[in-house]
Amino acid sequence: MEKNQKKVYIETLGCQMNKSDSERILGILSHFDYEKSEENEADFFIINTCSIRKLSEDKAYSKLGVWGKMKEKRPEIKIAICGCVAQQEKEGLLKKFPYLDLVFGTHNIYELPELIKELEKPVPDGERIRICAIRDKAVEEKEFNIIRSKGINAWLPIMEGCNNFCTYCVVPHTRGRERSREVETILAEARKIISEGYKEITLLGQNVDSFGKDLKPDNNGIKPNFAKLLAELDKLEGNFRIRFTTSYPTDITDDVVETVKNAKKICECFHIPMQSGNDRVLKAMNRRYTRAQYSEIVNKIRTQIKDVTITSDFIAGFPSETEEEFLDTISAIKELGLDYSNTAAYSPRPNTPAGKMVDKFIPNDIKKRRLAELNDTVKKASLASNTQDIGKVYEVLVEKINENDEKNGNARIAEGRSRNNKVVHFKSETAQIGDFINVEIKEALVWCLKGEAVADISNPSTAICKEACAKKEAASLK
Ligand code: SAH
Ligand code: SF4
Ligand code: F3S
Repeated sequence: MEKNQKKVYIETLGCQMNKSDSERILGILSHFDYEKSEENEADFFIINTCSIRKLSEDKAYSKLGVWGKMKEKRPEIKIAICGCVAQQEKEGLLKKFPYLDLVFGTHNIYELPELIKELEKPVPDGERIRICAIRDKAVEEKEFNIIRSKGINAWLPIMEGCNNFCTYCVVPHTRGRERSREVETILAEARKIISEGYKEITLLGQNVDSFGKDLKPDNNGIKPNFAKLLAELDKLEGNFRIRFTTSYPTDITDDVVETVKNAKKICECFHIPMQSGNDRVLKAMNRRYTRAQYSEIVNKIRTQIKDVTITSDFIAGFPSETEEEFLDTISAIKELGLDYSNTAAYSPRPNTPAGKMVDKFIPNDIKKRRLAELNDTVKKASLASNTQDIGKVYEVLVEKINENDEKNGNARIAEGRSRNNKVVHFKSETAQIGDFINVEIKEALVWCLKGEAVADISNPSTAICKEACAKKEAASLK
């Protein structure tokens, strides 16, 4: 049977939501005898695209170009594009790329079975089936396999879409309006993830705090919300962590902060994009908060939750942004002590109000310079944040083992993350992927921490503990 297996290669650009969609797409295709493969052995090629910036869109087109060349030599291969660029450009893509066989939008994933059947229909010689499937609204989700990527983390979307319409952002146009998944569906998926051995679940949504607003009250008349969902997930049996992203500053409720504070499995980490440190720019971006309000939220979280990490996103060179206004962003990062931030130069996007402010666009060289300054500030902030961790003991969930680390005298180095999402490296002969190990932080670098495993008597199952106990025992016998 092995010979009949068709091979699909999917390349995923963009955010975690796209990564999660790709796992679902692969799962659906597995019902049609498609097996996930590497690029060099595939006969079906899919690019799951991102449209957040022009650069991401261009990446998709350049990949299509490579596959188009391949199709000249192997005309039997099939090429598909999906994701946010597909949703945005629709059938125009079939015209632009003659070698494309299938275009499907972000709302069409659950229709893939029909699309694949159509695509695989036998046709007379010289004819070709080409399909574009785009719809405005999502169809009801159906149950299919999910082929998750291996590792310790599993993505779990709790909602889709966005209602915020920030003036620079394409997401509400490519992902549609907010739709929450049913609480029971999410809990069932979480249980399955844990039973499959994953040690971390990351809840996904463009704005997780909106979760439940569109759902009906349950049988007891209780309306779901994000805090309640977190509390339910925290109650699930098993040794695992829960993370979530993304939070909209003024939508984070006291209940969410309280729940994270009291929960056992929910990690102390909030990703709260600020975008700009200047009130006029924030207004022009249609962000519904001021610098002072953002600051108040950050302070509230910090005073309530010990060792919490707060990360953010910033845009440099939004149309009309003056030098002084840009400097407000720089000062905000420092003043708020943000632990880490993603940064980007503003990129005009189709269908967005800011994309039409052509006369107010900031020249590329200025945007580039502002972005470099922003990155420099983020780097310093990250080092300052990491430096504060020296001496602390963090529980690290091991994600990777480097058997022979050249930079560390060929030692065996374990790498993982603390609950507050700091990358931690430490030497160990025995640590395994998926272990939770207490590590004392000894050194701070810009993007990671270095530490030493500490024996944790309260957690005797960890390999490191066994290692330390064995050493202690050996020493006492001498
Ligand atoms: N839902 C999240 C983020 C979604 S997009 C939120 O509410 O912020 C991820 C990040 O991409 C955004 O936070 C923003 O910083 C950046 N981004 C979005 N549109 C952009 C554009 N047109 N140019 C540059 N960066 C952009
Ligand atoms: Fe885009 Fe704003 Fe929605 Fe985030 S909240 S996805 S930045 S429109
Ligand atoms: Fe990109 Fe779409 Fe995500 S535009 S960031 S892939 S929602």
